[in-house]
Amino acid sequence: MARRLRIGLLTGGGDCPGMNAVIRAVTKSLILQANAEVIGFEDGYEGLIEGRFRTLEYGDVSGILTRGGTILGTSNRANPFRYYRRGEADVSAEVVALYRELELDGIVAIGGDGTMTIAHGLSERGLRFVGVPKTIDNDIWGTEHTLGFDTAVHVATEAIDRLHTTAQSHHRVMICETMGRYAGWIALYAGVAAGADVILIPELPFDIEVVAEVCRERESDGRRFTIIVVAEGARPEGGAMHVHTQVPESPDPLRLGGIGYEVERQLRERLRSEVRTTVLGHVQRGGTPTPYDRNLASVFGTYAAALVQAEHYGHMVALQDGKITTVPLAAVAGRTRTVPLTAPMVGAALAVGTSLGVRAPHLPLLAPEPTAPLA
Ligand code: F6P
Repeated sequence: MARRLRIGLLTGGGDCPGMNAVIRAVTKSLILQANAEVIGFEDGYEGLIEGRFRTLEYGDVSGILTRGGTILGTSNRANPFRYYRRGEADVSAEVVALYRELELDGIVAIGGDGTMTIAHGLSERGLRFVGVPKTIDNDIWGTEHTLGFDTAVHVATEAIDRLHTTAQSHHRVMICETMGRYAGWIALYAGVAAGADVILIPELPFDIEVVAEVCRERESDGRRFTIIVVAEGARPEGGAMHVHTQVPESPDPLRLGGIGYEVERQLRERLRSEVRTTVLGHVQRGGTPTPYDRNLASVFGTYAAALVQAEHYGHMVALQDGKITTVPLAAVAGRTRTVPLTAPMVGAALAVGTSLGVRAPHLPLLAPEPTAPLA
C-alpha cells in the first residue's frame, strides 16, 4: 500500500481571526484531496521543539470556520534558533530530528513575519515549508492582504463610529489608538472608513501643532468635535515610538502602545476642548472573522494544500493584484511591508481633507498613482 502523505501544521506569532478557518481549509482539503495525515503542532514552534502534537482528523476541524483564535494554540516567543526555555540555545537540530522521526513530508506554517523567517531558517536546514500569511497588522512582505487584517479594520471602524457619536454629543476631541506595530495599515483603513479628521501613522511622523490646528479650526468652524485615529507605532517628528512593555524572549521584544495618551496630553496643553483616549488593544485580534477573512482563509488554506501536493515548498501563499500566487520564503524573511505614501488610500484620505498630522508641503510623494492596487 502506498505510504500516506504526512503534513505538519502549526500556527505561530500573535493570533488573529481566521487562523482556525485556515486550519480547517488545509486539513479538510489535504484529507479529501490527498488522503493525507495531518499532524497539528501545539503552540506554534514550541510544539515542534517540545514534541507536542496531535493528529487532526476531519471531524476535529469541523465547526471552527467562524471561531476566532487558533485551536492549536500559538506562541510569539518560541524560536528554535534561540529558544527562551533553554537559555536562548539553538535547538534547531532537535526540530530537524523530530521532523525526520515523524517522517513528515512538509509543514504548513500559518503566521506572520517572525513565523516566515523561522520557516525560512529551517528550510535551509532541509525541512520543507509552505507559509500562509496572517496578522492583523497587514505588514507581511509580498502579499497585499494578510488574514485577520479585514477583521481588525472592521472592529476598529465600528469602535471609531461609536466614538464619533459620543464625541459629537460632548463636543470633545476623541483619540482612538489602534494596533499595527510599525505599519499604519489598520489606522489608515479604519480611519478612512470611519471618516476620521486626523490619522497618524508610523510612516509619516506627525507634528502636534498641525494636529492641534485641525482641532482648533473645527472648533472655530462650529464643528465642535474631532476624531483622531493614531496607530500604536506613530511618533512625532524627531521623536521615538512609544514602547509599552518589553518581552525579552520574543524575536521582536518591543510591544508598542500608549502614544494615544501622549497625543492627548499634548493636545490638552494646546486646546480648550476636552480630550479623551481609547486604546483598542487586543479587541482587534479576538472574535469571529469577517466573511472576507473567512473566504481568504479558505482560498489561502486550500492553495497551501495544493502547493504541498505539488511539492512546491519554500514559498508563502500571497495575494498580488487580486490574484493568488506564491512568493519565496527567502524573500519574505526579515522584511516588513509598511504603508507606501503613494498608496491610493493615503491619497484618498488627503483628498477629502483628512489630516495626516503633517503640513501638506512636506508631502511631495503623496500624488496617488491611478494604476496602483488598493493596498
Ligand atoms: O502583530 C500583532 C500585534 O497585535 C501587534 O499589532 C501588536 O503590536 C502586538 O501584536 C501585540 O503583541 P502582544 O500580543 O504580545 O501584546
